[in-house]
Amino acid sequence: MASFKVLAALAIVTKAAGAASTSNGSLAITSWGAPRLDVFGVAPDNTIWHKYEAGTGFGWEPGNGLFENMNATAFENPVATSWGNNRLDHVHIGRKSAAFHKYWDGFQWARIPFVRRYAGSTPGEYSERLEGEFSSGLAVNSWGVDRFDIVGRSTNMTFLHKAWTGTDYYPAVDKWEDLGGNFSSGPATVSWGPGRLDILGVSAESGSMLHKF
Ligand SMILES: *[C@@H]1O[C@H](CO)[C@@H](O)[C@H](O)[C@H]1NC(C)=O
Ligand SMILES: *[C@@H]1O[C@H](CO)[C@@H](O)[C@H](O)[C@H]1NC(C)=O
Ligand SMILES: *[C@@H]1O[C@H](CO)[C@@H](O)[C@H](O)[C@H]1NC(C)=O
Ligand SMILES: *[C@@H]1O[C@H](CO)[C@@H](O)[C@H](O)[C@H]1NC(C)=O
Repeated sequence: MASFKVLAALAIVTKAAGAASTSNGSLAITSWGAPRLDVFGVAPDNTIWHKYEAGTGFGWEPGNGLFENMNATAFENPVATSWGNNRLDHVHIGRKSAAFHKYWDGFQWARIPFVRRYAGSTPGEYSERLEGEFSSGLAVNSWGVDRFDIVGRSTNMTFLHKAWTGTDYYPAVDKWEDLGGNFSSGPATVSWGPGRLDILGVSAESGSMLHKF
């Protein structure tokens, strides 16, 4: 592996451009396929930013010291996943500790249907409101086209799960499946292939690492 390089001097960028930085150590990175990279983070004012590299040598976009404003407010680390070429699914915790979703449809950050739309205080802020009430950041993962799974920790320390199944959400856009447990950590998730989701968390009672799939 090559050594670390400065991708953006975030603290300096914040002062210079007022655009973006990362507070509380939150950065998330995903890829929809070689050689694309997408990075998300949170600015000191809790707005979410995005930056991408189309391929090694192409340079990061938007340019030096600039960030795309996602027009969304995060109260926990924003994360993202991709189910394939030119698709990004981004989720974060926003107002009232609920979950919110925004996706890149191949051409633009999609306009969310009005019934599900949540217009925040930032102009242009359109995120799909997925409800729930969380006490941790979310984990999001895709095992294939038209599928992604979101897991987060509820206010009573259980893990909650919701999936996009291609035509709708399971169990519903405003409902979450309670997976139980009593966790001192947020969830970590991964999938090795279609139909499989592995979830990890730290037990609040024993400190043990718990695993479910
Ligand atoms: C970061 O921490 C500060 C101070 O604890 C808090 O006010 C802010 O909401 C946090 N931001 C995020 C994105 O977690
Ligand atoms: C943010 O809002 C501005 C102004 O409405 C809009 O031009 C821009 O496309 C939006 N960005 C995203 C990522 O939604
Ligand atoms: C924990 O919270 C979830 C959702 O926030 C709820 O569905 C569940 O019934 C709660 N469990 C208990 C034991 O209160
Ligand atoms: C979860 O674990 C904590 C720490 O051991 C404990 O105080 C709490 O009562 C537990 N919650 C439940 C619902 O068992």
